[in-house]
Amino acid sequence: MLDLRPRSDRLAQHRGWPQAMTSRAYEAPEALRGVEVFAGSGVVLDGRPQQAVRYERADLYPKQEAALFTPARYAVIEASTKSGKTVGCLIWLHEQAALHGGPGRNYWWIAPIRRVAKIAYLRLKRYLPAGSFASNETEMTITLMNGATIFFLGSENPDTLYGEDVYAAVIDEATRVREQSWWAIRTTLTATQGPVRIIGNVKGRRNWAYKLARRAEGDGRKNYHYAKLTVWDAVEAQKLTGVTMEEAEDARDLLPEAVFKELYLAEAAAESEAFFQVEHIGVIDTAPTDLRLVRTWDFAVTPDTDAVDPDFTVGVKMGFDGKRTVIVDVVSRRAAPDTITKLVQATAIGDGESCQQIIEEEKGAAGKMMVDLFRKLLAALEEPTGRVVAAPVTGGKVVRAFHFAAAANDKRVVLVKADWNAAFLAELDDFPDEGHDDQVDAAAHGYNHLVPVGVPRVRFLG
Ligand SMILES: Nc1ncnc2c1ncn2[C@@H]1O[C@H](COP(=O)(O)OP(=O)(O)O)[C@@H](O)[C@H]1O
Ligand SMILES: [Mg+2]
Repeated sequence: MLDLRPRSDRLAQHRGWPQAMTSRAYEAPEALRGVEVFAGSGVVLDGRPQQAVRYERADLYPKQEAALFTPARYAVIEASTKSGKTVGCLIWLHEQAALHGGPGRNYWWIAPIRRVAKIAYLRLKRYLPAGSFASNETEMTITLMNGATIFFLGSENPDTLYGEDVYAAVIDEATRVREQSWWAIRTTLTATQGPVRIIGNVKGRRNWAYKLARRAEGDGRKNYHYAKLTVWDAVEAQKLTGVTMEEAEDARDLLPEAVFKELYLAEAAAESEAFFQVEHIGVIDTAPTDLRLVRTWDFAVTPDTDAVDPDFTVGVKMGFDGKRTVIVDVVSRRAAPDTITKLVQATAIGDGESCQQIIEEEKGAAGKMMVDLFRKLLAALEEPTGRVVAAPVTGGKVVRAFHFAAAANDKRVVLVKADWNAAFLAELDDFPDEGHDDQVDAAAHGYNHLVPVGVPRVRFLG
């Protein structure tokens, strides 16, 4: 089965601690070609002894399972942020390949861009039992033991999405996929009559995915199925999704209604805009000298050897002049603890006397310990100036980023021209759908610390 537990739980299991998740097992005859192999089981097929294979579908919450595992060929799902879109679809596509696949049968995972497809690729690799598949990093393919291959593709170029022998497909974050790409995928699936799962956040009404959803919803024909997964569904399935009632209510109370509706309730707002409208963020050549400065850190320490898609340690330096917020510098690194320690020290010293160094103070003992370590790390700066600050964070990521986004969309955020600009803007542009959000998180935290609240929210709504 796919192992969806966070890495900390996997480690717990290795140490013999109780499992965080269980799964419902069932025997599927087709699975003889498939997934987990138990040698020496005595099963004979076509006169040849086989290795028995048992397939277990990972746990899904009932609405998630009903949305995806429908007999309908076309299933369209409009869903909340963090409702388990990506994970659910990975389980579905893998099952298609594992139970119905074979040599030469291909399965496609399509994301708006290749970089986002890679996140899903790395996630599936992490979920699959070791030794049960072969993978090709450059091609981003996973080949199961039955010979079926799962391809992870970006939708940038529709011409690359015409193919043969594609037996099932997922279009993740469909509202960000171009209509021409959808036509290509649909044509490709005609040859095999393969099923497709189309899933994403709602993003206004002017896109093919929205129109297809309406058709699936209204159309009584059997080969279409429509489902909606809201944040309340995700909260009900908190054990799996980790989304708490507190977080959902916080988002509802703090976000403009239209934003909450689209991102959390999967309902189109009349006029919908990107969360960060990056075209409103300007670039200047040098930072003004009269800024109040902070550098906010978001830590992720991962060994280089980990073949997952780890987060980055990010330090965002920004200043405020009473009106405009200037992003002065961004450092972003994936590295082992030693390297991160050196990076943080060197960066903080380089930032100079006038720049506060801020860390998120997370809840609980681990959060306190982290703050303590951070203070020790920057002891040289702590005394005598006391510019190391632990600031608590509250609410979900979207809520936390709201004021910063409002300022950016109101043309009150600029970047100092540098190499990191493009990656920073790309992350803002993707937020909150896909990809990493370490830079957004650090920047939002810095902004909330630096700039007095009371940002006119109405500007954001346009
Ligand atoms: N059925 C499930 N089993 C285990 N974890 C799940 C399941 N559904 C969602 N999750 C967890 O919930 C979180 C959000 O899921 P994800 O698929 O990334 O959401 P989305 O793509 O909708 O933003 C992830 O941490 C994921 O591991
Ligand atoms: Mg997702």
